[in-house]
Amino acid sequence: MPQLAYVNGRILPLADASLHIEDRGTQFGDAVYEVCAVMNGRILDWDPHLVRLRRNLAELGIVLDIADGPLTLQARRLIAANGYAECIIYMQVSRGTAKRDHAFPGAAPANLVMTVRRFDFAQRLRQLETGIAVITQPDNRWGRVDIKTTGLLPNVLAKQAAKQAGAFEAWLVSDETVREGSSTNAWIVKDGRIITHPTGTAILPGIARDSLIRLAHAAQLVVEERPFTLAEALAADEAFLTSTTAPILPVVRIDGTAVGSGSTGPVVRRLAELVWNEVARQTGWRA
Ligand code: PDD
Repeated sequence: MPQLAYVNGRILPLADASLHIEDRGTQFGDAVYEVCAVMNGRILDWDPHLVRLRRNLAELGIVLDIADGPLTLQARRLIAANGYAECIIYMQVSRGTAKRDHAFPGAAPANLVMTVRRFDFAQRLRQLETGIAVITQPDNRWGRVDIKTTGLLPNVLAKQAAKQAGAFEAWLVSDETVREGSSTNAWIVKDGRIITHPTGTAILPGIARDSLIRLAHAAQLVVEERPFTLAEALAADEAFLTSTTAPILPVVRIDGTAVGSGSTGPVVRRLAELVWNEVARQTGWRA
């Protein structure tokens, strides 16, 4: 069976799925997106993803003419049609197709596309044992990275630099402060306290980040949402990252320097237990 995609109300083979070359997402990065994890055929944290998508659309004044209910049904339909139990679903909404002009087009309807890709979440449990390495890169993105737009060139270049250095992720640093990763949120642990950059305009408010904060609070763990410096990260007891595709991974090296013991620490292990239990609670998925 060919892989299937969704384009403006139709499900069709991925190879035939396309948008017009004057889609504003292509020409201006004038589009927002979401990536959700699907485990056991169920979408993890769907409601928060939907809330973030709506907020991003509102921030940019993009009008998406499909209500939450039908959108949810279409996303589920696409997942079911592809028949993948473990996958990620990518949803992108652009301002529409129009003759190239920077200012918003008058009446172009938004373009909504969705794709689904198989994803091996069990690898993330194996990586809990090994940990991953990050490098640092300057954060040279625009001032509203809280909006999840497809304008990701700085993120792309940072991730490529990480890949070339044999690292999993690049942590983006501005004024000595670690903001977040190129596609993940960044965390450190010091003296039992769990520290991550506050939301605002300088980071993407990650759904996995938010979920982890709630789980940590419920488990009586101390979370500090405050900026931390690269020096603090290098002197931390533990470090980790979170995202939809990497719900929690220990960061054991930063720019080649070991973090703490250089292996997965007790706080990350405890948090991983909470995170993966929550995944099981919501989706029934267990490795
Ligand atoms: N990335 N920070 C950035 C810059 C991101 O792009 C992402 C998500 C996150 C984590 O957010 P969440 O927990 O909602 O996945 C943080 C997605 C997965 C992507 O672009 O593929």
